[in-house]
Amino acid sequence: MRKLKRVYACQTCGATFPKWVGRCDACGAWNALVEEIEEVTPSSSVPGKSLELCSLGGLISQIDRLQSGVEEFDRICGGGIVAGSVLLLGGEPGIGKSTLLLQILARLSQKYPCLYVSGEEAVDQIRLRAQRLGVRDATVSLIATTRLEDVLETLEQQETDFQVLVVDSIQTLGTSSLDSAAGTVAQVRASTGALTERAKTQGIIVFLVGHVTKDGMLAGPKVLEHMVDTVLYFEGDRGQPFRLLRAVKNRFGACDELGVFEMHDTGLTEVSDPSSIFLTRRQQPVPGTAVFVSIEGTRPLVVEIQALVGSSGFSTPRRSVVGWDINRLHMIVAVLETRCNLSFGQRDIYLSVTGGLRLNEPAADLAVAAALSSALTQRPLPLNTVVFGEIGLTGEVRPVSQHLARLKEMQKLGFQRAFAPPGDVTLPEVQEVMNLPAFLALLDMAKR
Ligand code: TYD
Ligand code: MG
Repeated sequence: MRKLKRVYACQTCGATFPKWVGRCDACGAWNALVEEIEEVTPSSSVPGKSLELCSLGGLISQIDRLQSGVEEFDRICGGGIVAGSVLLLGGEPGIGKSTLLLQILARLSQKYPCLYVSGEEAVDQIRLRAQRLGVRDATVSLIATTRLEDVLETLEQQETDFQVLVVDSIQTLGTSSLDSAAGTVAQVRASTGALTERAKTQGIIVFLVGHVTKDGMLAGPKVLEHMVDTVLYFEGDRGQPFRLLRAVKNRFGACDELGVFEMHDTGLTEVSDPSSIFLTRRQQPVPGTAVFVSIEGTRPLVVEIQALVGSSGFSTPRRSVVGWDINRLHMIVAVLETRCNLSFGQRDIYLSVTGGLRLNEPAADLAVAAALSSALTQRPLPLNTVVFGEIGLTGEVRPVSQHLARLKEMQKLGFQRAFAPPGDVTLPEVQEVMNLPAFLALLDMAKR
């Protein structure tokens, strides 16, 4: 007999509690508990059996990878999409998830039967998008439903053996065997579980679209990320044409790879040499700007970091960042104030990474410090110069990974000079920097 239990599930991390509480004990999220009905399965009494032991060095069965032909996408997936894997594509509403998947599906459908399940849009809307993308003739099958049972039955009953399935989005899909509303932890877990099982048993590739909240987390349960093989994030600034695709989890390839796309009227195109698209080329030096060579995955990207320091109209001055970590900004300001005698005191600080890119690397510290000091002292950095290095709390400049790759990229783009920590190689263009006060003195930005 089915036994049902009432629980309160955190919509952020998936933890369940017998009583409602305002703050989830597991992840600390406020107001995230929702009442759900959970099915209690009686504990099984089947005894375990001793299994055959395997060695690490045994034969590995061949992994089958399908090529979509969208090279940026295949590369992010580790050189093709693995048959039988489940991929989750997260991103803010309107960033282009449905567009990207429809374009990939159109390519894949040239070789493999594909099914697109939409719980958000009607078939006509998807047709309109296909028309806009110029893929109307692709042999992609469409259904619009929000019921998991319909999807599974369609896969079962149709004569075509679908090899690729897109579910747009997983938050809209639900099963009627559960009483909770679509999008709740229980529903998302049940739908993902059923689809994952289908993917593994029949070798189908399943793409799930997931929404992210305004804090950039996948909306609803984190459990979703644990259940799938690959988690991709599609991000970018909606005001800018560039979109970045990032693998944050990949059971079949490297993480931290970055793919760059550009959004046009007719859909997304790949940017295969993105190194300098985020760069503003200048004829005149401008105070408050520094150029940084970032390494995203295996890709170097050259970006400009801009800072603005102005007197504040507020009792607590504003510190605002776009594309960088606010805590790291506080740290660098503290180091500049304590070790280099610069005073930002009652001033507002704005820091921005151009092009809508988000930097996660500590290697950008030195460029951030340079941009901030330059904005404060109104002394520009020399033209055609790049800056990189990590800053420690004592003001020392630490070596960073991929030193040579950064320098090579700088040479490729025609920069003549670099300020960088000591690395394995010495190049004539590189001025080595050991600590922050000496670096600022070199740039004539130290307090006089
Ligand atoms: P969409 O794929 O619907 O986003 P998501 O599924 O992530 O919510 O794309 C939404 C935006 O993309 C929409 O604002 C319009 C824009 N867009 C283009 O600029 N060109 C195009 O060819 C298409 C299809 C969409
Ligand atoms: Mg969509």
